[in-house]
Amino acid sequence: MRRTSVRDIARMKAEGRRIPVVTAYDYTSARIADDAGIPVLLVGDSLGMVVLGYESTIHVTMDDMISHIRAVSRGSKQALIVGDLPFMSYQVGGEDALRNGGRLLQEGYAHAVKLEGGARVVESVHRMVEAGIPVMGHIGLTPQSVNEFGGYRVRGRDKVEAGELMSDALALQDAGAFSVVLELVPAALSREISQRLSIPTIGIGAGPHCDGQVQVFHDIMGLYTDFVPKHTRRYVEAAALMSEGMAAYASQVGDGSFPSLDESFSMDESALEGLEAAR
Ligand code: KIV
Repeated sequence: MRRTSVRDIARMKAEGRRIPVVTAYDYTSARIADDAGIPVLLVGDSLGMVVLGYESTIHVTMDDMISHIRAVSRGSKQALIVGDLPFMSYQVGGEDALRNGGRLLQEGYAHAVKLEGGARVVESVHRMVEAGIPVMGHIGLTPQSVNEFGGYRVRGRDKVEAGELMSDALALQDAGAFSVVLELVPAALSREISQRLSIPTIGIGAGPHCDGQVQVFHDIMGLYTDFVPKHTRRYVEAAALMSEGMAAYASQVGDGSFPSLDESFSMDESALEGLEAAR
């Protein structure tokens, strides 16, 4: 099976086919999503919260990202793997972005990178694209700027912010981004941006008019229960199922019904003769 490329993603928009994207952070989640035919796996820095237990994505490092992207790449055969550039890996400027974007491809085995921000990151986008690194943009609520925004809130509800987001989306497209994530953006504004751009928009909390949708694996699988965002839908209650399974395991070990001899290994018991003499 041929791996999805950024050209395939562009073709999906041109043909009016919606693009499903999901985050993946390890070998197992990557295999599940890849086997289900999800064409794009995003190794998001949201792993800081749902896998590493941090309060925000700010603490995620390049080493964290490389290690998780590698695991995802080992679990995936057909998906395009996009790796997130973590906080402070590109904010200093284009040189850093180029070096760190390159590391995500070279050491992490990603096929593309994502970074947050609009007009202020276009130089970095441009430098990476020129070097052959496909770039996905990310505007709207950009979690790495949570301290600047003062919380996780919908962006683009008023005229000024809506205009800024449209300009940011166009700037990213002009700089060569192959797609752009719209996070927590009103549906009507996402519709306008999606119609205006020739590259695909991938929404999260951005309504039904985007060219694709991205969701956090743990949210749609019902695995992350600390907080349930309004924009997600749980397709499986995995945490509840896993708790049930874990309690059954503990109880069966406790009452001796696990493991049975069928779940054990046999030997010729004559080999046990004379064991009492062993010191
Ligand atoms: O880090 C992440 O998972 C993301 C998506 C939610 C877009 O940036």
